[in-house]
This record gives sequence, C-alpha cells and structure tokens, in this order.
Amino acid sequence: MDGLDVRSTVLDRRQELWGRLTHDDFDLVVLAPPTLPADPDALIASICALPERPGVIALRPTEDAEERARLLAAGCLAVLWKGLSDQALRRALAALVERRRDEARQRHRQSRPEDSSTLGDFAYASPAMQAFMRVAHRVVPTESTILILGETGVGKEWLARAIHHDGPRASGPFIAVNCGALPEHLLESELFGHEEGAFTGATRSRKGFFELAHQGTIFLDEIGEMPTHLQVKLLHALERRHVVRVGGERPVRVDVRIMAATNRNLEEEIAAGRFRLDLYYRLAVMTLTLPPLRDRALDVPALVDNYVAQFATALRKPVTGVVPEAMRALAAYRWPGNVRELINVIERAVLLCQDTAIGLADLPHQIVGAPSDMSARTANLARASVETQQGFRDARQRVLDQFEREYLTTLLLEARGRLADAAQRSGLNARTLYDLMRKHDLRKEAFKVNRVAQPEPGAPV
Ligand SMILES: Nc1ncnc2c1ncn2[C@@H]1O[C@H](COP(=O)(O)OP(=O)(O)O)[C@@H](O)[C@H]1O
Ligand SMILES: [Mg+2]
Repeated sequence: MDGLDVRSTVLDRRQELWGRLTHDDFDLVVLAPPTLPADPDALIASICALPERPGVIALRPTEDAEERARLLAAGCLAVLWKGLSDQALRRALAALVERRRDEARQRHRQSRPEDSSTLGDFAYASPAMQAFMRVAHRVVPTESTILILGETGVGKEWLARAIHHDGPRASGPFIAVNCGALPEHLLESELFGHEEGAFTGATRSRKGFFELAHQGTIFLDEIGEMPTHLQVKLLHALERRHVVRVGGERPVRVDVRIMAATNRNLEEEIAAGRFRLDLYYRLAVMTLTLPPLRDRALDVPALVDNYVAQFATALRKPVTGVVPEAMRALAAYRWPGNVRELINVIERAVLLCQDTAIGLADLPHQIVGAPSDMSARTANLARASVETQQGFRDARQRVLDQFEREYLTTLLLEARGRLADAAQRSGLNARTLYDLMRKHDLRKEAFKVNRVAQPEPGAPV
C-alpha cells in the first residue's frame, strides 16, 4: 500500500491467509477476490476475533448492494469495489488506516485515564520550581527530544506525561517503558518488536513499543540501566527514525517524540564506559533537571495542601489542613524518597487523623523524629524540675544520665559490641567507655550481631 505509511504484506493464495493471520499482528486485513471464499461470514468473524481485533475490508470485483449489506453484517469494516479509481481507493484506505489509529489511541487513553496529568496539575511554590516550570512550558510545543534528570520520586515520569499531554501529540499515545525492569532480551523485543520465530516462544510476530507509540511519545524511563548493545540499536532507531524488529529485516518507519529519564549521573556512567556518549548527545537535546524536594522546602506546604485535599476527598475524611508544628516538621524533613514519599506520608496521616487538621502524632517518627522528641523531653524535664524544686544540679544530672545511656546504647549498636570500634567512633578512651558502660549496666555481649536472634534476658536492646 504505497504512500499510506503502513507496513503491508500481500498474499496471493487463500491457503496462506490463516497461517499469516495467526502468526503476525495485522491492524487491517483487505480481502480481495482470491482470498475471499464464496461464503465468507465465518472467515470474517474469525479474523475479527483475533487478539488485535483487525479491521476487515472486503474488496469486491463489482458493486452489489446486497452482497455489501451481507459483508457488513458479517463484521466487515468497509466494502470497496475494484471499479473505483486508484485515487479513490487510496483515499478510502487512508481514511480507514487513520480510523484504526484513532481507535488504538483511544484504547490506550482509556486504559490509564488517571495518568493524564498536565503541567497545570503540578503543585509548587519555590523559586527553583517556578524557574523550572517556565522552561518546561517552553519545551511543550516543540518536538525536541527531552532528557529528564532527578532523584527517584521527584516527578520525572509525571513531567514527561504532562509535557506530552499539553503538547502537539496529545491525541497520540504515550508509551512508558522502564528500561531497568526487564532482562536484556525481553527489553529488546518489547522496544523494537519481534518477528515470528525470532526466539523460542515467539510464536507470533509482535509490534514493539516504538511502533505502538507511532505519532505519539515514547518515554524511556531509567535509560541509564539500558545495556550497551541495546544503546547502539536505540541510537540507530533515533537517527534513522525507523526500527527493525528482532529477527526481522524490514525497517518500519516510526514517528515518535522521545523522552528519556534517569536518576543516575550519566556523565559518570559515560566516564565508566557504561553509557554511550553519542546516545547521550542524541537524548540530551533538552535536559530538564528536577531538583530534590529537600532543596525546595518551599514546595512542601503546597504539595502537602494539595495531597491533604486529594486524600481527604478520596478517603472521605473531614481533614482540611495541617497544624503549624506538623507543617514545620514536614518542611524540615529531608525527604529521601521525594514527592512520592511525601504522598505516602500524607495518605497515612489523613487516615490516622482524628481531627480536622493533621498533627505531629499523625506523622511517622522519622519526620517528628528523635531530635524534637528529645527536646520535648528535656523541656518537660526542665519544667518538672523547676516545679518540684529539684535543684539545678540534680536535674542536669538526670538529663545527662539519660543522654549518656541513649548515647552508649546507640554507639554500641553501631559498633556491634566491639569496644575498640566504639572507642574510635566516640573519641572516648577505652577506660572511660568501660566505666560508663558499668555505670549504666550495659554489657557488650548484648550488642553482638546475633543479639536480635537471641536476646539476653533483660539486655538493653
Ligand atoms: N509538583 C508536583 N505536584 C504534585 N504531584 C507531584 C509533583 N511532583 C511529583 N508528583 C507526584 O509524585 C509521584 C512520583 O512522581 P514520578 O513521576 O513517578 O517520579 P519519578 O519518575 O521521578 O520517580 C507521582 O505520583 C506524581 O504525581
Ligand atoms: Mg519513575
């Protein structure tokens, strides 16, 4: 089918038809006179029932209204006849091809409606993110390849979806591939497709993600994990704008916008010989680096408010905000898991919350953590000492004793009961360390590696 921008297979004999149909993946099947049996209903129904649900077009030698009605009733997408001019036939086929593509896109969109984010859905307030979003808005209308960098959970995939969704390819598919999640040979056939018999188990040929992303966007997540031999194949695909299926020879033209992301430092990967410099240049036409959440604490309140509102609605809880101390703790936390971690923390807090505002008690200990716990405890001790007129020296001694005990316990846990190690870590000499342990009745045996499996009775673990 010249000029239609499709990959086609022509069969001359009806006997070959079923074999081809069950081993390949066709979107459209044109049944011309040699392949259309006298009683075609069963054949048409079986074609329509194939996994790809191909559309069937019957091409008839003459125009016959009754036959046409019968073929349509049997499930044909369209009935054309050979008397039409080449140009008219081509136009009709082109329209049918386009319709199939639309349907495929529709199916893809419906399968993941929750992912249709737009840049407008991003919550942020920090100057860093304001500057970032200005750049992101600028790349939306372009077709340029984008490389998105940043730690895990900062929003790389969400950003890619949003740029696709707001851009000129919004009506096309967005196909996300995690390059780190699949073993090498599977990744290759997932990306580029394969022909029947390309490897054991390849009983049918299949389209790869590149072909599925035709006229849309392919998002290559964790590109830093891609094995080097596939990097070469990917580079060829990017340069030539076509792919060759595994076990195949024919190039298939693909029109896709490429976005890639990684949390690795690609310069280091290049220096170590694990990532190809030429591929890097191809991908990094436009590089967007999402800063970690700890470097944009001003975004925390915006994100928190956004997700409190979302989870309150989803979980039907009357929670409307966060008390100031809790918000301060959230903003001070370092968020190693970035926005993804924040979302989990807020979901849990909304679930736990018994009030209309989230308090410190609803937050996990790593956030309200030891430091503020400790200062709360010393504050209480100070108050109690003054109120009970305990005297400054006694009160201070109690706090110091408590501190010593906590310090030594942590130290010995870290050093796994090895006194030389503990002495080195703490800067205390062995004698002082030993005296302190005796004072607090701490025995090194309690901190040996197997302490969890066999706790000594009464051992402070
Ligand atoms: N600025 C933001 N506003 C709201 N949600 C965000 C923002 N940034 C990230 N998210 C959310 O954080 C989660 C993690 O984002 P994701 O794109 O999967 O991260 P990454 O791909 O970098 O690991 C997603 O649920 C995403 O919707
Ligand atoms: Mg991700």
